[in-house]
Amino acid sequence: MAADLPEATVQNVLDQDSLKWVFVGGKGGVGKTTCSSVLAILLARVRPSVLIISTDPAHNLSDAFQQRFTKSPTLVDGFTNLYAMEVDPNVEHEDTGGPEGMDSLVSELSNAIPGIDEAMSFAEMLKLVQTMDYSIIVFDTAPTGHTLRLLQFPSTLEKGLAKMMSLKNRFGGLLTQATRLFGLGDEFGEDALLGRLESMKEVIERVNKQFKNPDLTTFICVCIPEFLSLYETERLVQELTKFEIDTHNIIINQVLFDEDDSGSKLLKARMKMQQKYLEQFYMLYDDFNITKLPLLPEEVTGVEALKAFSGHFLAPYQPATSRGTVEDLERRVSILRQQLKDAEEELVRLSRGKHKA
Ligand SMILES: Nc1ncnc2c1ncn2[C@@H]1O[C@H](COP(=O)(O)OP(=O)(O)OP(=O)(O)O)[C@@H](O)[C@H]1O
Ligand SMILES: [Mg+2]
Repeated sequence: MAADLPEATVQNVLDQDSLKWVFVGGKGGVGKTTCSSVLAILLARVRPSVLIISTDPAHNLSDAFQQRFTKSPTLVDGFTNLYAMEVDPNVEHEDTGGPEGMDSLVSELSNAIPGIDEAMSFAEMLKLVQTMDYSIIVFDTAPTGHTLRLLQFPSTLEKGLAKMMSLKNRFGGLLTQATRLFGLGDEFGEDALLGRLESMKEVIERVNKQFKNPDLTTFICVCIPEFLSLYETERLVQELTKFEIDTHNIIINQVLFDEDDSGSKLLKARMKMQQKYLEQFYMLYDDFNITKLPLLPEEVTGVEALKAFSGHFLAPYQPATSRGTVEDLERRVSILRQQLKDAEEELVRLSRGKHKA
């Protein structure tokens, strides 16, 4: 794969059969949810089962797909192999089924080690997801800082364990006695918590090993052609390199193409500005697959809109004014063919469903 020349699409992600985890991240509002949803839809065409997970507390998969999702995987309407779930890394641990005493210990511990509760709920979620056997899992991540924190969790948990051990050594059986005194019983005491931490650490370590394997994991950076976003992308790419997480795709969203004949000065000025940053993106990331997506006049919500937008992920955008060449017609025919194939498959599925019923 690495030897291939970079392409201007995300086809490489669809072609990489070994991939198990796909992270989609970037600055707030650039189009992470839109892009991860489209990717999940495209992957559902080539994989037996796909799960898309939002780890953003401001859940927006529900908005993108116009369907309510919960913290359990739910089949996306109109699909037979695409599931979505929304988890909130901040509150999840409160109802993971643990007894009350355990949760108060967890929150006690989280005061001592910031991020530990988040680490544990993330680990619990990953543990659950791993047992579910999806062919590929797409993460719609929260804005940058948050995502990178998730990837640091093994060391956070390491610190948590060290802290527990030192507390245990310092106070001996005091904590255990206290939990007994309050009628909580052994299974809610420090040993139980220690055990839970240890098993979480084990999951996180295993998963992190997978996250660092470029055959299994890749991170797709979404951005817009503006200074702050370019700057943020560079920071993100550097952090990912530091964490040894593969990244070789950049999606530049909300690109204005020269197809406006209204003579708007504002539009012209913004297009010029975008051009400057686009050039910088191409210069900085000449070994990345850079996919450009057009800014649409309307939002991209609902499965139909997402599917229609997905064409831009597979074929470089051609502004309307330059359309009409043979190559372009061929390209459009191939998109139409794919749409036709999708529709046919849909029909087959529907008629199969009918026969079964
Ligand atoms: N190319 C585009 N053209 C027009 N609208 C778009 C485009 N890309 C995304 N949008 C719209 O912009 C809004 C923000 O996009 P999206 O929710 O995907 O961003 P995000 O990066 O996930 O945001 P957040 O950081 O808040 O999670 C949505 O309403 C979406 O439909
Ligand atoms: Mg989002």
